[in-house]
Formats: sequence, C-alpha cells, structure tokens
Amino acid sequence: MSFPEWWPLSAVATSVVTLITAYALIYQLSCRKLDPREPDIIASPIPYVGHLLGMVFQGGRYVKNLGIRNRHLPIFTLPMPGSRLYIVTEPSLAASVQRASRALSFTPIIPPATERVLGLDAPTMDIVRQNLDPGPGDQRGFLADIQDMVYAWLGPGPYLSELTLSAAQELQREITSSPSPASSPTDLLVWTRHLVTPATARYLYGPCNPLARDPSLEGAFWDFDHGIGGLLTGVLPSPTARRARAGRERLAAALATYLEAGRHITAASPIVRERVRIAQRHGWTLRATARSELSFLFAAVVNATTTTFWMLAHVFADASLLAAVRGEVEAVLVPDGGREQAQASHGAEAQGNTFRLSIALLRDRCPLLVAVYRECLRLGSDNCSTRVVVGGEHADGALLAGRYFLRKGAVVQIAGGVIHADPAIWGSGAGAFDPGRFLDRDNNKNGAEAKRKADVHPAAFRAFGGGKTLCPGRHFAMSEILSFFALVVLQFDIEAADDGDDEKGRIHVPPKNDSVLPVHILEPVTPVMVRIARRKDGFAKDGDILNVKFEI
Ligand code: HEM
Ligand SMILES: *[C@@H]1O[C@H](CO)[C@@H](O)[C@H](O)[C@H]1NC(C)=O
Ligand SMILES: *[C@@H]1O[C@H](CO)[C@@H](O)[C@H](O)[C@H]1NC(C)=O
Ligand SMILES: *[C@@H]1O[C@H](CO)[C@@H](O)[C@H](O)[C@H]1NC(C)=O
Repeated sequence: MSFPEWWPLSAVATSVVTLITAYALIYQLSCRKLDPREPDIIASPIPYVGHLLGMVFQGGRYVKNLGIRNRHLPIFTLPMPGSRLYIVTEPSLAASVQRASRALSFTPIIPPATERVLGLDAPTMDIVRQNLDPGPGDQRGFLADIQDMVYAWLGPGPYLSELTLSAAQELQREITSSPSPASSPTDLLVWTRHLVTPATARYLYGPCNPLARDPSLEGAFWDFDHGIGGLLTGVLPSPTARRARAGRERLAAALATYLEAGRHITAASPIVRERVRIAQRHGWTLRATARSELSFLFAAVVNATTTTFWMLAHVFADASLLAAVRGEVEAVLVPDGGREQAQASHGAEAQGNTFRLSIALLRDRCPLLVAVYRECLRLGSDNCSTRVVVGGEHADGALLAGRYFLRKGAVVQIAGGVIHADPAIWGSGAGAFDPGRFLDRDNNKNGAEAKRKADVHPAAFRAFGGGKTLCPGRHFAMSEILSFFALVVLQFDIEAADDGDDEKGRIHVPPKNDSVLPVHILEPVTPVMVRIARRKDGFAKDGDILNVKFEI
C-alpha cells in the first residue's frame, strides 16, 4: 500500500490510527440507545461481548458488582451480542416488572432451561411447548396445569399441614436414627445435607424411594446440583457439568424404575401422585416424568438444606444468639402430658423425653428465630428473577413503569444480589449478618432505624422470587426449616473443629461463594468444620434422644 506524498503518517502509525478510530466507532455504537427512553447503558471496554465474558468468568458476582457500582441507576442496559440485558436493582421497579407479566414474561425461558437442565427428549419438549401461555378459554398446557396444582396444594390448607407434619417427622426420624454424631471433625454443610436429603426423599416418595434403596444416589444428587449452572448455560463441557450429567442420569433412571414399578401409587405423597397424573394426562412417558420429578425433588431439597446450614453456622458461632434462640424454642416446647402437669411435677424430669412442639408457635412466638431465618435468606440469595420482553404497547418493545423502553426479545433480570446488599434498604452494615434488622423492637431507640424498617419495600426481599415466579413452597419451606433447626438446637452442641485457635471452639462463618451462577442459596467459600455432640444441659436428660411430637 502506498500513500500520497502529503500523507504525514508512516504505515504503522496509519494502522494504529485506523484501529483506534474503528474501536472508537464500535465502542460509540455499542453505547447507543435504541430509544431515548431506553435505560442508561453501561458500556464494557470490550464492546458487545465484554459483559458476556465477565459473566462467564466471574459468574453471578459480575452483574452484582456492576449493580453495586451503579447503585444510583434503578435499571440499566448491558449491550449483548445482538441483544440487550436489562438489570433492575430497585425494589419498586422490581414490583413493576413482576406486575407487567404480559409484556415481560417468564414462560419463554422455561422450555430451553428445562430441556438443558433435565435432559428432556424431543417428544416431551413438544408437549412442554404446547399452550405455554394459555389465555382465558384456551386449552391449558402441561406447565400451566402443573403450576396451578402445585401453587394450590402448597398454599395454606389441609394438604400443606399434612405435608409439613410428615416432613418434620421424617427429619426427626432421620436425626434419631442417624448414628450418634462422632466427635471427629465434620463438614456442617455435608452433615445437614445428609439429614435433609433422605428425609425429603421419604416425605415425597415414601420409604421405598430410590435414595433409600441406593444411598449412593445422594452423592449423585449433589453432583447434579453443583453442575446445574454448567448445564443451564451449556458453555463449556467442564468436568463439573459432566459429573452433573452423570448424576442426573443415574437419578432419572432410578426414579423411572420407581415410577414404572408403580411404587408412587402406594407410597408417594399425594402431590407427587397428582404431578405424575397430570404428566400422564398430557402424554408424558414415565421415563420423562422421572426427570420432571427430579426437578421437584431438587426444589424441595437444595435451598432448604443450604438455608438450614447458614442458620446453624451463624447461631452456633455466637453464644449469646444461641442462648436467645434456644430460649425461644424451649419456651414453646411442651412436655407431653401438658405444661401444667410438668410444672406440678417440677420440670421435665418426670416426663421422660417426650415433648410436643407446635410449628405454628415456632413461626409466631419465636421472633428471633424467624429473624435469623430471614436474614440467612437475605444474605444467601443472589439469584435474579428473569423475564423476556415479549411485547407491550410498542411493536418493537415495551415501556416499563411508563418510563423505560425495553426492546422486544431482550432479557430483564431483577438483581436480587444487588437489592439484598443495598444499605439504603437494609441499613448500614448490609453486608453483615444481623438478624436484628428483621426485628421490630418496640422500644427502638433509633427513630431513623425504625423508620427504615417500616419502609422496606415488600419486593426488596427476593429469596423466594416474586410475581409469577414466587416460590410455591415458601410456606412449607419456612415450617420445615424452623422445625429442623429447632430439633438441632434443642439436642446438639456444635463447635468449631480447629483446636489451634485462640478462641477454642468458636465457629468462624466464611463468606458465601458468589462466583457461581446463583441458581440456589449460595454455599460458603470454605467448609465449616465442626464437632457435633449431644447436649448435656438440654431438655433431653443425660444426652438421651429427644422424642418430639410435632403439631401444626
Ligand atoms: C429456603 C428455601 C427455598 C427458597 C429460597 C426457594 C426459592 C425459590 C425461588 C426463588 C423460586 C423461583 C425460581 C425461578 O425464578 O424460576 C422457586 C421455585 C420453586 N420452588 Fe422454591 N424455594 C425454597 C424451598 C422450596 C421447597 C421446600 C419446595 C417444595 C417442597 C419448593 C418448591 C418450588 C417449586 C416447585 C418451584 C417451581 C415453581 C414453578 O413451577 O415455577 N421450594 N423457589
Ligand atoms: C433457591 O433459592 C434461590 C435464591 O433465592 C433461587 O434463586 C432459586 O430459584 C431457588 N431454587 C429452587 C429450585 O427453588
Ligand atoms: C435463578 O434461579 C432459577 C431457578 O433455579 C434459574 O432458572 C435462573 O437461571 C436463576 N437466575 C440466575 C440469573 O442465575
Ligand atoms: C466457588 O465455587 C466454584 C464452583 O464450585 C469453584 O470452582 C470455586 O473455586 C469456588 N470459589 C471459592 C473461592 O471457593
């Protein structure tokens, strides 16, 4: 290439200038709004693909940190290759997203996600895609039918009570029948999983459930869980994704054997039988239904386990908190035969080790316990509620809250991690564990603090999602987790295993690992190693096993 004589630059300088100009042009283009009302654009130094790369390499933490840095924006735009990602970080706007369920829909996300995560075959996917968003009078598709049923059955009512009681009893049974805890160092999360997973499999699928027949499936279950992010995005065929797929296939095969043998008909909880019935009515094979059941088992186990783990870690790490929470639980524990009788015979001694525990009283009369539960959910949950812009008043997009233009086909996420970390909502020290922020202290000295609490927007607590994707299991989960937690604090002492420490036995609660795709309550960055022993000073005399009869 030759330049005219008057051209002042060398060939190298020319290429550099050309590259810089091209970069500046592409960069400018990537920052351009599609509509003046589109939310502000956060450009990446690497146009179009920079944010995507950030998400691939940093996981959920990437968008969370962007949101925290741009807290002044209630919503912002991330340019993506050929599309947009809108991130909502303000609770009242989050509520608007949830209300706009026609224009911003969740349903388009379900088929591709379930196909990848559960490995459903093509004929089943055809059924899943039918009548996804039925209007009034339309025939209802499989997903609509199953969601209606699950939301109705897990809402307050007799079935919810029945399921809650059977879950509490299975957890009690699991604690009672597990070998007495060794004094050797134990990973607290693994210990919790090992109690909750088999108990859940029993209350949902009965005593002949696949995990009871083959306990090694519990490991397969957690392999599946840890690779869901990889299966969902399908980016790189990582070893975790491979293990997850192998675990899923073993579980699906075992659940298929269970269903084909008709064991659910006699042993499963009614909600499982109803789920299977609905699937069959829509033409699912039993082998495909087994995969749908795997997703239900997953929903019931994973978050309940990890939430309980965080509650145990935080409470046993703080002696005064432990004493206070234990005090609340012990105050609602009633010796079998009645409190009057117990008092007449001077305490529990004469009563043996049988007690009654009302789950309603755990929810209603143990405010600190409930505050610990909510605070652990706030801190542990970074997940985003996701919607797709499907339409609206404009041909090419929708107008959110009458102000923000969102392009059709783009994805909107409510950034739970950003909202949960916002000091403007939760008070100073929003990053720290402080159950007090969920307590209404009547004699609150600090008027501003009391006002802040009164002002927390209902959509600011995102652990259970919201709108169309509000968790149907939230009532059940709370009762189940409080019951299980109560059983543990009543009967066990838990101390850190590392003896070398200054404060011997004091648990240090690690931060959560937020570099994964937050598909569930986040796990700690390092294991919490503990020693677990039966309490000597508790209601159960001489470290005996406590027999708790749960009541609703
Ligand atoms: C602390 C415990 C729990 C948390 C934090 C939690 C949270 C959530 C969230 C955020 C969603 C919405 C997911 C989305 O956006 O796609 C969800 C969905 C769901 N959860 Fe939970 N959950 C918990 C426990 C449970 C339990 C114990 C059950 C069942 C017994 C359950 C059953 C479900 C089901 C069936 C769905 C799917 C609903 C649908 O069809 O769209 N969850 N959960
Ligand atoms: C578990 O909880 C997280 C955080 O709130 C949520 O995003 C996720 O959807 C839940 N998963 C299931 C299966 O319920
Ligand atoms: C939130 O959780 C749901 C259900 O587990 C999952 O489908 C979704 O992809 C998660 N969102 C993000 C951004 O991780
Ligand atoms: C967080 O979890 C991921 C996936 O399991 C893992 O690769 C990573 O090392 C963990 N990060 C930390 C700091 O433990």
